[in-house]
Amino acid sequence: MGLLEIEEVSVQFGGLLAVDDASISVPAGCVTGLIGPNGAGKTTLFNVITGLQAPSGGRVVLDDVEVTRRRPYRRARLGIARTFQRLEAFGSLTARENVLVALEMRRRWATARYDCGKIADELLERVGIAHVAETRVEALPTGSARLVELARALATDPKVLLLDEPSSGLDEQETDALGVLLHELTAGGLAVLLVEHDMPLVMEACSYISVLDFGRVIARGTPREIQADPSVQRAYLGTAKAAS
Ligand SMILES: Nc1ncnc2c1ncn2[C@@H]1O[C@H](COP(=O)(O)OP(=O)(O)O)[C@@H](O)[C@H]1O
Ligand SMILES: [Mg+2]
Repeated sequence: MGLLEIEEVSVQFGGLLAVDDASISVPAGCVTGLIGPNGAGKTTLFNVITGLQAPSGGRVVLDDVEVTRRRPYRRARLGIARTFQRLEAFGSLTARENVLVALEMRRRWATARYDCGKIADELLERVGIAHVAETRVEALPTGSARLVELARALATDPKVLLLDEPSSGLDEQETDALGVLLHELTAGGLAVLLVEHDMPLVMEACSYISVLDFGRVIARGTPREIQADPSVQRAYLGTAKAAS
């Protein structure tokens, strides 16, 4: 049983079935990959998990508690955090201030007392952007701005972290560092669901992978099993043809 269970979720947008009866299990302590061509329904599924999109069917279960109809902020409190495919950090605030905003939110509901400034510095250090802590996010390169978002998501001390294409805008060195960080985070028990186009990162970071195509889960397995799966190769080849 996963810490996060997505059970038979469907999302209908008018005549389009963007997510079609998808079930995905996200265990604690490892990275689960969610891959698939553009338009497959990955971001929509993230929106269902975080409560930004109501599903037309199915359930979202966190730690044995059904959260399908909970408001987004309640799910955040229960331990679901995410980053966005498009940057959502506050541009006019510094990297450190962005993290502080999230920490102040957490402090309102946390029982333990803690020093927000100290934790903000630790988080910025942890994701590798301590040197730009006082820079406004709008002045940062995309890669660093993405890492600000990651630090902000971690500031809520989540049980489950959803990452929507975190490596886009990162250079090779930053992507490698992200892979290392994912291992460290999951070693501490965090469950990560990773949407990502960088296949070397996916294959290296993930323990399990689910493949989404036209809203359906067409395959699930270990990286090795997924790489060898003919239906996965067909789904990706189909997209390559359509794009050319
Ligand atoms: N709010 C929306 N209204 C209507 N259609 C949408 C909406 N959001 C996404 N879609 C459509 O749903 C499908 C899945 O989109 P998305 O979840 O963004 O895919 P992915 O993240 O895998 O690229 C696409 O066909 C997209 O155009
Ligand atoms: Mg997407």
